[in-house]
Amino acid sequence: MLSVETIFTNSKDHYNCDVLFELIANDIERQGYSIHLGVLPEDLTSSLFLHLLKMDADKFKNAGIGRSDDYIKNKFVRTDEICWIAGNSDAGKQWLKWITALQHYLNQRLFLGLFSFESHFSHYGCGDYYKRHYDAFRGEENRVLSVVAYLNSDWTADDGGELVIYKDDHDKEGVKVVPLMGTFVAFLSEEFPHEVLMANRDRYAVAGWFRINTSINNNIDPPR
Ligand code: OGA
Ligand code: MN
Repeated sequence: MLSVETIFTNSKDHYNCDVLFELIANDIERQGYSIHLGVLPEDLTSSLFLHLLKMDADKFKNAGIGRSDDYIKNKFVRTDEICWIAGNSDAGKQWLKWITALQHYLNQRLFLGLFSFESHFSHYGCGDYYKRHYDAFRGEENRVLSVVAYLNSDWTADDGGELVIYKDDHDKEGVKVVPLMGTFVAFLSEEFPHEVLMANRDRYAVAGWFRINTSINNNIDPPR
């Protein structure tokens, strides 16, 4: 069943991704996660990739320290470097535009109430990993939906660095995702423990999180 929503169709100003968005919505409704290989719009993928190539290595490192509260609060182990996307660059704007289209689609289709979005580039160097973790904790009403878009060409089995999504705390096998260019993943943040296996070469991605609105009495949440 495809939506007849016309805003994002046949318009140069918007991405025409209704078919993909519907597949993602169906997956999330059915199993809570969605994995699609090479589906990110080509112009978006190349903008993000070119932006990465231009990015200062320093930007990456420094940005990682910016939100130290995250590291303390979440108590998990990661060795990657990150750089938050504020939407200042063309690539960042393009990404946020596509994400906004997805957000509107999922809200209409699944009533998820996705309200705000935050995302960062991530860089795993050779030997880097991110141990099994959740992106959100039940009852804290923070991150609702996690997304990841991968930006690596010619990834082979020897390169490692797969994302493994586990169905629950007891699942030892999980579902593996190769971080290949244009692959897009979405999963419910509270439902799926996941990890990034050790990468054997540079691994680039954009990771993001939708939150619901939990503002009370004009206290803007999340604090930034
Ligand atoms: C994260 C994360 C997965 C990936 O940044 O929280 O789980 O494949 N990333 O990069
Ligand atoms: Mn995660």
